[in-house]
Amino acid sequence: MRVVGTFGAARERRGGITALVPTMGYLHEGHLSLVRIARERADTVMASLFVNPLQFDDPSDLDRYPRDAARDAALLEEAGCDVLFAPQVEEMYPSEPLTRVTLPALAATMEGAHRPGHFDGVATVVAKLFAGLQPDLAVFGRKDAQQFVVVSRMAADLSMPVEVIGGPTLREADGLALSSRNVFLSDAERRAALGISRGLMAAADAVEAGERSAAALEGLVLEEMSRQALDVEYAELADAADTSRLTVLDRPGFLAVAARSGSTRLIDNVWLRPDGSADRGARLGAPSVLYGGGG
Ligand code: PAJ
Repeated sequence: MRVVGTFGAARERRGGITALVPTMGYLHEGHLSLVRIARERADTVMASLFVNPLQFDDPSDLDRYPRDAARDAALLEEAGCDVLFAPQVEEMYPSEPLTRVTLPALAATMEGAHRPGHFDGVATVVAKLFAGLQPDLAVFGRKDAQQFVVVSRMAADLSMPVEVIGGPTLREADGLALSSRNVFLSDAERRAALGISRGLMAAADAVEAGERSAAALEGLVLEEMSRQALDVEYAELADAADTSRLTVLDRPGFLAVAARSGSTRLIDNVWLRPDGSADRGARLGAPSVLYGGGG
């Protein structure tokens, strides 16, 4: 695996189809599952590792974002990555970027509403990665459902020649979605956090049993979460095409949740379709050995 710090070096010596997996590092099995999807689809697999200051609305969140670049590089190499683009801030933002990519309608709901400026930061950095690295396809996790829709719409709206592919949410065997933030959870907070995935699975069960009302589905998640000491920010059924709120599951959607367990903010979702099918993600057979938060 080549580790490079400039866009120019990252573009050198590529062959055939190139796939990009953008990350902010501190990798776990969820990230690596995206690298494997990329590996199946492409001749050259590139990952990027950049903790993007532009997408953090809270500076203390940026400061405490966990980092372990050497371990990340070893894991990526093992997963079959060919090129790791790990730029310094100066390569990504040589001067204050005066251009922003913004999707106002998508940024107005859920994560966008709770994290002002977040999706402008995500869309702008992903646009820069697409422009600077010129991948043919890029793989994102559906764990970050709204981000996945933001990036897909940006690429389509701006005619970017990049195919955006979504990978399933990887979960611990007990359901907790893998996240770099899970390391911050105490045992009690981790137990409480399980209310999130339990609620989402109950909603997926209800859809499979015929429920289509957003209020009923959101209510199932809220009920499960209210049993735990969780500080819920939202539980919302959204349109998979544009993240607008659905009142009835009459088109593909996702039910998304954000909640704090202790001081750690967690997000999770299930993807739901009007034919009654649900994508709940995939579960690890054994506890995450990386940064999934034990189990
Ligand atoms: P980061 O949080 O590091 O996530 C990198 C990618 O891994 C994202 O596409 C995310 O959706 C995916 N991912 C995270 N947890 C996952 C899980 N449990 N299962 C499957 N995929 C998972 O998301 C970002 O970085 C940034 O916003 C980025 C897109 C890199 C732009 O800065």
